[in-house]
Amino acid sequence: MEKNRIHIFDTTLRDGEQVPGCKLNTKDKVKIAKKLEYLGVDVIEAGFPISSPGDYQSVQKICKSVSNTIICALSRAVEKDIEIAGLALKYAKFPRIHTGIGTSYYHIRYKFNSTPEKIIERAIYAVKHAKKYVEDVEFYAEDAGRTENEFLAKICENVIKYGATVINVPDTTGYCLPEEYGYKIRFLKENVKGIHKIILSTHCHNDLGLATANSLAGITNGAKQVECTINGIGERAGNTSLEEIVMIIKQKPHLNLFTKINTKLISSASHLVSKCTGMKVQFNKAIVGINAFSHSSGIHQDGIIKKRETYESINPKDIGIDQSSIILTARSGRAALDYRYKKLGFFLKKNFLDLVYSIFIKYADENKEITDMELKAILEKANLNS
Ligand code: KIV
Ligand code: ZN
Repeated sequence: MEKNRIHIFDTTLRDGEQVPGCKLNTKDKVKIAKKLEYLGVDVIEAGFPISSPGDYQSVQKICKSVSNTIICALSRAVEKDIEIAGLALKYAKFPRIHTGIGTSYYHIRYKFNSTPEKIIERAIYAVKHAKKYVEDVEFYAEDAGRTENEFLAKICENVIKYGATVINVPDTTGYCLPEEYGYKIRFLKENVKGIHKIILSTHCHNDLGLATANSLAGITNGAKQVECTINGIGERAGNTSLEEIVMIIKQKPHLNLFTKINTKLISSASHLVSKCTGMKVQFNKAIVGINAFSHSSGIHQDGIIKKRETYESINPKDIGIDQSSIILTARSGRAALDYRYKKLGFFLKKNFLDLVYSIFIKYADENKEITDMELKAILEKANLNS
């Protein structure tokens, strides 16, 4: 059973927080970390401690406040970074250092002005150094999406030899197609000595809108951990969104995979992250957008009122929303109007409903979304006209 479990690594507080305009204070970070713990994530990437004293303090505070989840801190393959990450994690019950280096041609040639051999040496050194602080060391091969698979396999084999427990394969620039990313994971599974001893992890960015599809391709080809953020926030177009990948796994039993996430807390986690970061969730965002469970056209509303499943494949209760919303607009029909009046306690006879509907539809043509107050006013007008 456990072999089918997908570990959820949440990086809202690290990669998510790297978004322009998003700044979280320590108090908010601890609040979000506790929510993530209740949500049931396996790993919380709490921050990048070398980056600022505030981030160091946040990681330390989260370690003291969260006890059921692995707490992870990011570091480059730089001695000082690793040392500071190790110190920040001192109070964590389950600490993990996440260290790594760029492995693609662009990174080796232009970022480091180095050679593939020297990059392997730095990767080994980073893992060996991190092992002095913690047992659990995750290695990231930055820009793995654009790294040649043979070289990626070589670097993975080396870091496993020196004790890496997890290997992260980031599609840093959101470059891969699902079949390319899935093939990369399968290639590593089939060609890296010792790969069965470690957890392979996906970390996908959304530059082409493929982050979730790529993560899915990763786990169906053997990756066992998904790195993601609440509401998909993250650098540029964002990261794989936690709610999407978790709900895909839940909705598709034939994948034969599961997570430990309590999906009923998804909606409230989304609200909390949006409130603390000040980043509004796009209206039509899958799973957590305000429109994800709202219906406004007459045909859909009629179907939903008869049987929810006609126009919904996901039960809103599964993510912690009581029920779908029936929004009244000029596209709505009598069934939706009757439904909303019943919710307000008014049970209208058919002929009277016809009269109310004729007033409603004229009014709705001039206005956007009809509120309960407006419905009551329409009813009063119909009463006067009847
Ligand atoms: O996208 C990326 O490559 C990263 C790494 C630092 C893990 O966020
Ligand atoms: Zn990233």
